[in-house]
Amino acid sequence: MRIFIINGPNLNMLGKRPESIYGKLTLEEINKGLSEKANELGFQAEFYQSNNEGELVEVIHKAHHEAKGIIVNLAAYSHYSIALRDAVEILSIPVIEVHLSNIYSREDFRHKSLISSLADGVICGFGPLGYRLALEAMKDIL
Ligand code: DQA
Repeated sequence: MRIFIINGPNLNMLGKRPESIYGKLTLEEINKGLSEKANELGFQAEFYQSNNEGELVEVIHKAHHEAKGIIVNLAAYSHYSIALRDAVEILSIPVIEVHLSNIYSREDFRHKSLISSLADGVICGFGPLGYRLALEAMKDIL
């Protein structure tokens, strides 16, 4: 069962972003662990990351045709991209939104995500564990 794990802008720089907020691990390290976890759960995880809004729209369209569910951290775009919200709205598969940090304990502009009301569930504040929890939740949903 194919699950897309989609990360947005600047998440390719994990490991270099403020450690107190985002931790030490690189995206590659996080994804390696997730790939193993996904296999254990009977999923085939496919990882996408882009700093480009249009590319992320295309990946979400691809998920519409090919994936059984998506786990998304659209990073800063979560807070203001109507294009990405519209792309997610097309989907008829489960959507789980993840944020590494607790967006509600940070600046006001991070408190709103345009994706959340479309998602089956939202996980934030647990660092990389959030993606693992999202895989567990996806297993349950599917
Ligand atoms: C983030 C939170 C966003 O506000 C921020 O712009 C990010 C990462 C997170 O995972 O905590 O880049 O989505």
